Amino acid sequence: MAEHVEPGQELLGIGHVSERTGVAKSALHYYEEIGLICSTRTSGNQRRYPRHMLRRISLITVGSKLGIPLADIRHALEPVPMDKIPSEKDWQRASNEWKRVLERRRRAIEELEDRLMGCIGCGCLSMQACLLLNPEDALAQEGAGARRLETGEAEGDI
Ligand code: FES
Repeated sequence: MAEHVEPGQELLGIGHVSERTGVAKSALHYYEEIGLICSTRTSGNQRRYPRHMLRRISLITVGSKLGIPLADIRHALEPVPMDKIPSEKDWQRASNEWKRVLERRRRAIEELEDRLMGCIGCGCLSMQACLLLNPEDALAQEGAGARRLETGEAEGDI
C-alpha cells in the first residue's frame, strides 16, 4: 500500500529535480555540498528532494544568472527553512533579504561604473592611484614589492 504524503511533502528524485529546474545534477550536488539546498537519502543512498526545494533552486538559478555570488544567495535564503514547507512569511523575509542583496550589488556596480569612467578618461593604470586596479590600496596590505608579479596576476590576467 502506498504511503500517504501531505501535499507539498512529496520527495523527488534528482533526475526529476534536474529536469524541472534545468539545473545539472552535478550543480545540485554542489549546491547541497555548500548548504544551499538539502535532501534526504533513500535506503539505497539515493537523494530525494522535498518538492518545496524546487522554488529554492529556481531562486538560486535566477540569482546566479544575475551574477550574485552563491555565498550572497545563501545569505539571502537563510530565512527560508529547508526542513519544512516554507510559509509565505518565510518567503517574504527572503524577499526582503533579496532586495538588500540586490541593492548592495547595484551600488557596487554604480561605484565600479564611476571608477571605470574615470579610468577611461585617465589611462594612467597607476597601481598607487588607480582605484579600479588597486581598490583601497589592497595590494599594499599584502606586503611590499611587486604584488601582482608575485601572485602570478600578470597584466594579461586582468
Ligand atoms: S587609470 Fe588612472 S586612475 Fe585608473
